[in-house]
Amino acid sequence: MLTECRAHRSPREIVLRVLLRTAHSRRSPGHLMLKSPATRIGLLVAAVAACALLLQVSGPANFVLVYNFYFVILLAAYWYSVRGGALVGALAGVAASPYLITSTPSEYGAGAWLVRMGYFVAIGLVSGLMRRKLARRRMKLEANVTNLSRTYARTLEALTRLLESHDEETSGHCERVAYNALRVGERMRLPPRDLETLYWAGYLHDVGKLATPAKILLKAGPLTPEEYEVIKQHAAVGADTLMNINPEFYVIAEAIRSHHERWDGRGYPRNLVGRQIPIFGRILAVVDAFEAMTSDRPYRAAMPIREASDILMGAAGFQFDPDVVEVHLRLLGEGRLHTQRENGEHTGMGLPEFFNPELLERVAS
Ligand SMILES: [Fe+2]
Repeated sequence: MLTECRAHRSPREIVLRVLLRTAHSRRSPGHLMLKSPATRIGLLVAAVAACALLLQVSGPANFVLVYNFYFVILLAAYWYSVRGGALVGALAGVAASPYLITSTPSEYGAGAWLVRMGYFVAIGLVSGLMRRKLARRRMKLEANVTNLSRTYARTLEALTRLLESHDEETSGHCERVAYNALRVGERMRLPPRDLETLYWAGYLHDVGKLATPAKILLKAGPLTPEEYEVIKQHAAVGADTLMNINPEFYVIAEAIRSHHERWDGRGYPRNLVGRQIPIFGRILAVVDAFEAMTSDRPYRAAMPIREASDILMGAAGFQFDPDVVEVHLRLLGEGRLHTQRENGEHTGMGLPEFFNPELLERVAS
């Protein structure tokens, strides 16, 4: 099972793959065709010719139809910037010349045509320049957004490292919870953005334990009721910590806040019931519990997979969302989940480089 799990793609690859596939799938064949230079140039030339023909057949009373050329010139500037705008402006001037020369008194005909052509070229140049400037600003903005997105990712990563140094035991556990939650989310057909949320939430679900005193967190024996109450605070503390970094982390924060809620409403911190619990929390609850049962702890050995699976099944509909349990057990049967007992400590996977898949998608498109 170890070899099989490692052969799977990393979350970063999965997220990138899904995002790129989504971005590409949104492009219709027509959209792709319009991206081809041959199609675009053909379309521009045809549009100029159509404008000229319309002008010719409509007669002198429809002088206003000359303005149709401006739409084509603007489109050329949008597609091909300064050069495209100016060239199509000149082409429009030439195409409109028979009408402009013949429809103007003979002593002004050539002059009027040249002035009009000058306007066409100037409009093409100016709109091309504006388009170029906007494109540069957009590139700068996207670079800043990407940078910001990476900074978020590194901030979250720093939190996980901090937690690992506080509680060594959580290191492999959080990694495996993140990995397995992602697999369950994939099978439940969550959208790409939710998959990344799920992965981060899996990694950070116990980050609130940073605030738990080490003497309680690392206590080998059973906890007193008071100590248990202190431990229980970690779900809310973790969520609040993320929200304090940036309210943008709201969805991840709520996933963390709800990872100890129970399907029957007897969980904490808010006693949510059934589908009131965010899907992320419902998935994490199952994955976290199974992962904890099948991992070694200083005070007990890992439980056999079979026994842990039976406990999950028995708690479906009480402690856990039965649909999530079903998916989890199916994936387990297919060997697609990573357990410490069978596959070792680490999944061999890193954290995603970007925080926000929507930003990534925009940059990639
Ligand atoms: Fe927890």
